[in-house]
Amino acid sequence: MVTPRDHLTPSRITGQRTELRSNGFTRSSWASTVGVVTDIERPYGGGASDPALKRVRTRHFQLAKEQGIKITGLTSYDFLSASIFDEAGIDFLLVGDSAGNTVFGYDTTIPVTIDELIPLTRAVVRGVSRALVVADLPFGSYENGPDEALASSIRFMKETGVHAVKLEGGLRSAEQIKRIVRAGIPVMAHIGYTPQSEHGLGGHIIQGRGDEAEQLLADAHAIEDAGAFAVVLEMVPSAIAGQVTKELSIPTISVGAGPECDGQLMVWSDWAGFTRGRIPKFVKQYANIGQILLDAAVTFREDVEAGAYPAPEHEYGE
Ligand code: KIV
Repeated sequence: MVTPRDHLTPSRITGQRTELRSNGFTRSSWASTVGVVTDIERPYGGGASDPALKRVRTRHFQLAKEQGIKITGLTSYDFLSASIFDEAGIDFLLVGDSAGNTVFGYDTTIPVTIDELIPLTRAVVRGVSRALVVADLPFGSYENGPDEALASSIRFMKETGVHAVKLEGGLRSAEQIKRIVRAGIPVMAHIGYTPQSEHGLGGHIIQGRGDEAEQLLADAHAIEDAGAFAVVLEMVPSAIAGQVTKELSIPTISVGAGPECDGQLMVWSDWAGFTRGRIPKFVKQYANIGQILLDAAVTFREDVEAGAYPAPEHEYGE
């Protein structure tokens, strides 16, 4: 939400336009001081490097939807990536249970635990000054009911400093969402393809097609009624996601749910080309970090083996 919008033209703000380039992708960003703008014109206050920086809040998600400003999110699991994404003006960072795959190397997200996610969440929170950070409640930490869901959410809030939690499920998780929200903790919901239910869903399958659309809409409304501030729609046909987006007053965040959603979220390792092997069709790869690291590691090994590293400039004198 730091990019100039249709309603936020350069003449209305005084800032320095910077170009962020990555693999041919160019994005305009107002990354310097901004003039006096109202909350309505620029819901988040200044850009990422503005000294009068403000934190993205859940109410800004609502403002963004109302004003047609697209919301951006990436997953993050560590301090360094979090600080880079924060500097780029990404609006929210999700410490996803996808860490089960990307950090811990499990086959699915099912084994990952709260104890494994807490240190990662702490690191991401330390890395940001603007982005809203959301912690994913892992499988087994909320399904037993509202009490368990609240206890798990409280652990994340107290032990990490995170700003919101996310959990999977529509109607089936509505009571959990209500209880967490009543305790003052913002909840991002997640419907469509929900990776924690991979085996129940019968695999990595697009959700909400045909007759399933009605259930998806019912789930979306249940989430909104329960008090969630936003909902992730994962692997849903664009037309159905568009309908959900129109019917809900809370923002929809797409993970493979098309352009009509109010925001877009990606798993950063897929998005940056860090993931080895197959990536989903909806992912646009904005960099090729995996190849860059591979090349660097090969060159380092060759240098060491050939005695080319360390060179005199890398040595300490007496
Ligand atoms: O864990 C995760 O990264 C997620 C996103 C894919 C929505 O839940």
